[in-house]
Amino acid sequence: MSNLTYSKISESEAELTWSIVEQALHRHGDPNWNRKVGYKNFRAIRSDGNILGGIAIIDMGQWFGGRKVRTGAVTSVGVAPEGRGIGAASTMLSNALKEMRDNGMAISTLFPSSVRVYRSKGYERSGVMLTYEAPIKEMRAALNKLKVEQASNDEEMVLLFNERAQQGNGNLDRGSLLWDLITTSDGRPIYKYYIRDENQVVGYINYQQSRSGDHIRIRDMVSSTQQSSERILRFFADHRTVIDTISWNGPPTDPIDFAMEEQETNLKSSTDWMVRVLNISDALEQRGYPAGVNASVDFEFNDNEIPENNGIWHLNINEGRGSVKKVTSPSSKQVLKLGPRGFAPLYTSHYSATDLKIMGIIDGSAETIALANTIFAGPKPWIGEQF
Ligand SMILES: CC(C)(COP(=O)(O)OP(=O)(O)OC[C@H]1O[C@@H](n2cnc3c(N)ncnc32)[C@H](O)[C@@H]1OP(=O)(O)O)[C@@H](O)C(=O)NCCC(=O)NCCS
Repeated sequence: MSNLTYSKISESEAELTWSIVEQALHRHGDPNWNRKVGYKNFRAIRSDGNILGGIAIIDMGQWFGGRKVRTGAVTSVGVAPEGRGIGAASTMLSNALKEMRDNGMAISTLFPSSVRVYRSKGYERSGVMLTYEAPIKEMRAALNKLKVEQASNDEEMVLLFNERAQQGNGNLDRGSLLWDLITTSDGRPIYKYYIRDENQVVGYINYQQSRSGDHIRIRDMVSSTQQSSERILRFFADHRTVIDTISWNGPPTDPIDFAMEEQETNLKSSTDWMVRVLNISDALEQRGYPAGVNASVDFEFNDNEIPENNGIWHLNINEGRGSVKKVTSPSSKQVLKLGPRGFAPLYTSHYSATDLKIMGIIDGSAETIALANTIFAGPKPWIGEQF
């Protein structure tokens, strides 16, 4: 539609934009989310100048292969009900992709309410958010020597979180917006504890006691050693006279679940987040690769939304780092044919190249697929907090 325009919003337009987004999204975990994101991060789609919908973009880092990749975290996407079905969301997203790329972001990440809306723009399901729940009576563990102490600061939390994030895939470089969301509350108290061995902090927990039901909701938790996992189990087991269950968001390979005697953890929910490549060359150069893999592969890339990504890109990997150059014809025997939807879950290590070939979104010879499996092998990507 020619009269749809995409632009920044002024401070005086913030309340209107947020009310449209809040109505559209129905609810968010934090009622003040849009205000915290701030009007400067919002964009609007307008019809003849009138605001029809909004979108917010947060400049963030996301860890892949031990390195931080610059991502545009997209949130608060909504269109007023009376303005739907005329391409408002589609126009808004196309413009947002271009803006994020122009601002130097390599990829974009979001939690979709609808996969279809974003797939049509080249996003694909590329990692998980998992919520586990376990009965406290199953969290048996002997008391070990580690100390549990109330956290008097958040700094050691940030350090331990970042250390784990670097070892895995998908975790966010949280920045103050997300850390504030996790460490502060306008309502029920948040309890924060460090788990220490004689030298250092080896784990932390940050939780709230549920108002309804005898339940503890963990907001954030890291356990970096087996002893720390046992101490955390014991800490919660010591609540067994008044609390029945505990829930937390954790990795696909969860150390707390693993430390339990029996398989009594339930997977309460599993939702995929989506990624879209904005700049194929930056994306491939910013992530890290498995040490010891020295290889080359060509990407024959087809992008309907971002024409600058089109063409053949030669990736050379050496000592865990990738370097990329654009070529006119494949310069190796290994050629992977794909578009943004095939690229994203391969890039994040969510699916292997073998999986993606079966799913029909990448193509290449058996040898090339096997090579891509090795290059992008890594821990399953996950995020523990929704934005
Ligand atoms: C989803 C929403 C943003 C779509 O807005 P819109 O302006 O009507 O969408 P468009 O007309 O630009 O359509 C864009 C694409 O999404 C599809 N789409 C639109 N609404 C959809 C819905 N509710 N479910 C699934 N797909 C939908 C369209 O068919 C189109 O896909 P196509 O190009 O493959 O045909 C709007 O309905 C809304 O605000 N919904 C509530 C909030 C929400 O779900 N936000 C998005 C997720 S965070």
